[in-house]
Amino acid sequence: MLLAIETSCDETGVALFSESGRLLKHLLYSQVAVHSPFGGIVPEVASRKHLEVLPGLTKKLLDELEVNLDQISAVAVTMGPGLIGSLLVGVSFAKGLCYAKKVPLIGVDHLEAHITAIYLEREVTCPFIALLVSGGHTALFLVKDIREVFLIGHTRDDAAGEAFDKVAKLLGLGYPGGPKISKLAKKGNASKVSLPRPMLEDKSFDFSFSGLKTAVLNLLRSNKEVKPEDLAASFEKSVCEVLVEKTLRASKAYKISRVVVCGGVAANQTLRKLFFERSKDENIECFFPSPEFCTDNAAMVGINAWFKWKDKDFSSLEAEPYARAKFKKLT
Ligand code: KG4
Ligand code: ZN
Repeated sequence: MLLAIETSCDETGVALFSESGRLLKHLLYSQVAVHSPFGGIVPEVASRKHLEVLPGLTKKLLDELEVNLDQISAVAVTMGPGLIGSLLVGVSFAKGLCYAKKVPLIGVDHLEAHITAIYLEREVTCPFIALLVSGGHTALFLVKDIREVFLIGHTRDDAAGEAFDKVAKLLGLGYPGGPKISKLAKKGNASKVSLPRPMLEDKSFDFSFSGLKTAVLNLLRSNKEVKPEDLAASFEKSVCEVLVEKTLRASKAYKISRVVVCGGVAANQTLRKLFFERSKDENIECFFPSPEFCTDNAAMVGINAWFKWKDKDFSSLEAEPYARAKFKKLT
């Protein structure tokens, strides 16, 4: 069996997979309540919480499945990108387990894990275009094969999830902003407030959301009458329209009629609805993981690692011929 661990940000996740790549169970400990009083994630608090929670959560997973550590044949862990303190907890814990049980360690890239999360529930034939929309990243990829992923566009400033979180803060909704904006937006009327559609004129596949956030701030300052629910609805619509338009443009430009949308913001109902409507009109197949596999979790880490494990590909640790960049010049 394969044990997978995710601790890159503020969610502690563990998952267990069978040798054949079936997800047996996954558990998640969300740190939302811990960070809420601060209005956002406090990195030091996040890493300490992972340290406190991870061993017990792993034991709980194994106990619930009546599995013992001797039955684990490989351990997968998110090795980046993410918060360094949080990553270190997962990586060190995984290394310890591998050393004790003499099993291989598989390092997983967090972004690739989001992209392959779709395979937890269905097969999607490569190539496909992947839109990754999370709190830390917003990017478009051309996935030729799950081993051959090319970046074709990315945000030049804020990630889409980050924009949701910042606008939620401006509206006094608290953290995490995405689900809160989404809930408020349901009561609002997007057409009551006009907001820009950033980067739509631009021919590249890049995004930019920080100006949109500033537009919300300016509106709040200049128009005291504006209803928060209308503003939330208009903001959500603007982000979703830009994401859908740019992704479908990429799909047409590269002549690839399959699109996978992943990452925390992919849990957004308005985004899902708009993608399905627009892709149907344009004969593009659109796939979303279930919301529980859009936001951070260890199941997506496990499925990504399983593809490597199955092919005996342990290339997450490569030989490096050059001195590491971390050795800086002494000045
Ligand atoms: O993928 P994720 O869990 O963590 C990162 O890798 O960043 O994404 C978290 C982000 C947060 O910014 C959160 O506000 C956003 O996803 N998010 C949403 C929704 N659920 C989570 N944004 C919009 N609508 C949602 N329903
Ligand atoms: Zn993530």
